[in-house]
Amino acid sequence: MTESKKASESESKLAWIVTPADLNRHGTLFGGQLLAMCDRVAAMAALRHSRLDCVTVSIDKVDFVAPVHNGYILDMTSRVHFTARTSMEIYVEAYAEEPRSGDRDLVCEAFFSFVAVGAHNRPIPIPQVELETERDKRLNKEAKARYDARKAGRAQARTAIIDKKD
Ligand SMILES: CC(C)(COP(=O)(O)OP(=O)(O)OC[C@H]1O[C@@H](n2cnc3c(N)ncnc32)[C@H](O)[C@@H]1OP(=O)(O)O)[C@@H](O)C(=O)NCCC(=O)NCCS
Repeated sequence: MTESKKASESESKLAWIVTPADLNRHGTLFGGQLLAMCDRVAAMAALRHSRLDCVTVSIDKVDFVAPVHNGYILDMTSRVHFTARTSMEIYVEAYAEEPRSGDRDLVCEAFFSFVAVGAHNRPIPIPQVELETERDKRLNKEAKARYDARKAGRAQARTAIIDKKD
């Protein structure tokens, strides 16, 4: 396994054209559909970064910023900005483009955590990410704070388990 890898080496892109099958009852893109596509592009970055099998373990702070209409072109980009021993955090941004004018708007951003897994689905070590941009560095700090908070309070964080004890 390589010791480290530049963030730009695994940056990934996915494009999609919105068709009627993707719409909700308001006639705009269904949020779950957009989230699934963001998960796919995040998975591409996780795989390229680690060159190992990876699974989504959590999604933090998903923002749907603006509606996406039928016929619009979606452009999604993913980039690793934080790595720990076996897990990594990936930022995804999605832009929607009105096909005639070419006008583009940010429509979604989200933070995905992936874990690399080996035999019997057990976590295995990944290369560390080399941060390159000011944004990489800022997101890395925020991700580290989330990681530390999660590690500190993980047992209390499982609502489903806490409910069963009541
Ligand atoms: C991912 C999985 C293998 C981790 O198993 P686990 O027993 O929690 O493993 P560990 O406690 O050893 O944690 C492994 C890593 O995952 C991270 N992790 C665990 N739960 C996490 C969470 N909710 N959010 C972010 N990271 C998490 C840990 O911090 C650790 O990272 P590190 O090694 O970089 O410090 C297990 O939770 C799993 O299989 N989940 C289902 C994944 C899946 O199927 N996803 C598809 C959607 S259904």
